[in-house]
Amino acid sequence: MLTLTNVTKSFGQLRAVDGVSLTAPAGQVIGLIGPNGSGKSTLLSLIAGSQRADSGQILFEGHDITHLATDQIFRQGLVRSHQDPALFFRMTTLDNLLLPIKGQQGERPLIAPLHHLWRAEEEANATAASQVLEQLGVHHQFATLAADLSGGQMKLLELGRSLTGTPKLLLLDEPTAGVAPALAYTIFEQIERLRATQGLTFLIVEHRLEILFDFVDSLYVMHLGKVIAHGTPAEVAANQQVREVYFGE
Ligand SMILES: Nc1ncnc2c1ncn2[C@@H]1O[C@H](COP(=O)(O)OP(=O)(O)O)[C@@H](O)[C@H]1O
Ligand SMILES: [Mg+2]
Repeated sequence: MLTLTNVTKSFGQLRAVDGVSLTAPAGQVIGLIGPNGSGKSTLLSLIAGSQRADSGQILFEGHDITHLATDQIFRQGLVRSHQDPALFFRMTTLDNLLLPIKGQQGERPLIAPLHHLWRAEEEANATAASQVLEQLGVHHQFATLAADLSGGQMKLLELGRSLTGTPKLLLLDEPTAGVAPALAYTIFEQIERLRATQGLTFLIVEHRLEILFDFVDSLYVMHLGKVIAHGTPAEVAANQQVREVYFGE
């Protein structure tokens, strides 16, 4: 589904991402961990197209997306969520979910004034978006402005919004940061359900290893911009270099 080869990104003298190669096979949940500043968020930005790689290649379903714009990448089915929720804060929860839906007739300038041409579609979209809210347990907040949600609810909405864009691959940046432990586990159960029922592929940056380890097929560990280990949770936890840089042993 996703293959990175030797991807590099520098900010001035700093090599934030330094020759990273990784793969995310279709239908798998892949973890990405590493200390703060190791380059994880930057790597997600390079994949999603919001930052440009200096060198290397990024393939999505076999297509080279290294130099495509974010909207082109999104339309191919690759969606990312942000570490700090990047919501439309002055729109309601429901409207945030309606925005990414692809191919909406009412968005076309000549059709927009003719309500009868898109009303049924809009209602169907609202129903589908409501179901996403219900699955995430924030249905009662559908009319609340995103700015008025709690931190945890914002993270849930960020996840929900990445789903209504009909993704094939989701890049999630710390989906449970700032979320209560029980809810954090629920978020990963939702991820597991989406993988099982819709065959979605996930690449997930997450600090809560005790939860992440229960759900991933394999993990990559980054340190100072480089991948220093890859394997199952058990293999990664036993890796000496990982223990040194990540667990401080
Ligand atoms: N836009 C930027 N300009 C300059 N330096 C950046 C920028 N984005 C990230 N960095 C730096 O790159 C390194 C990796 O950051 P980041 O990808 O956010 O790491 P992580 O997500 O693993 O904590 C850090 O040293 C960070 O300060
Ligand atoms: Mg980060």
